[in-house]
Amino acid sequence: MSEHERVSPSEAEYDILEIRNLLGKDLPTREFLASYKPDTAWFMEEAGGIHGVGHEARVLVLQELLAILVERQDGIQLDHEALRVAAITHDVRRINHKLDFAHGERAAHWIGRQQELKERISPSSMLLAQYINHWHVPNDTYIPNIPPELSILKDADGLDRVRLGDVDPSFFRHDFSKNLLLRPAALLFEATSQSATIPAEQQFDFVLDTAANLGMIRP
Ligand SMILES: [Fe+2]
Ligand SMILES: [Fe+2]
Repeated sequence: MSEHERVSPSEAEYDILEIRNLLGKDLPTREFLASYKPDTAWFMEEAGGIHGVGHEARVLVLQELLAILVERQDGIQLDHEALRVAAITHDVRRINHKLDFAHGERAAHWIGRQQELKERISPSSMLLAQYINHWHVPNDTYIPNIPPELSILKDADGLDRVRLGDVDPSFFRHDFSKNLLLRPAALLFEATSQSATIPAEQQFDFVLDTAANLGMIRP
């Protein structure tokens, strides 16, 4: 989807209704996701930038929805803690907004040294979050092993590429990403794209408020 192709709100809203029907009482709440707010001090580059808090917040919302949809469909249990921590940290150690190939590996090492995060999740979830962070960067063909959590984080990250204007649905690993989440992800980005003009400290809350207003999460 190019940046010039605007998603039709009615189509996106229909997809959101479908997501709400599928998730029912499991639709995540704003309050729950708010507890994963990243610290702007974590970011090596500008926390308000294109890979900053707003992006991590949208990836947090998108991975949560996709993970529950995939769990339901495939009858599997995913490590949500690893996924959420990866969502809010995968890009924090970027040193530029271009091709910084080592930023995933850097983020993997970095979260392993954060006492606050280590106390929050189990050692096995921490190891998986580090693996996701490390391998979220390269093309799938270069990744030694792709656990379902990595495939979900990569799809959620890819869905927010709408902000870069170069989403390629053929890269998605899950049909839900292509068929159900793509238009809501575009709508969420469009509705929060002005977040770049508000302070980084407020961007996370702004994205969650917007997701709640759009019906993607519970208020
Ligand atoms: Fe990244
Ligand atoms: Fe990212």
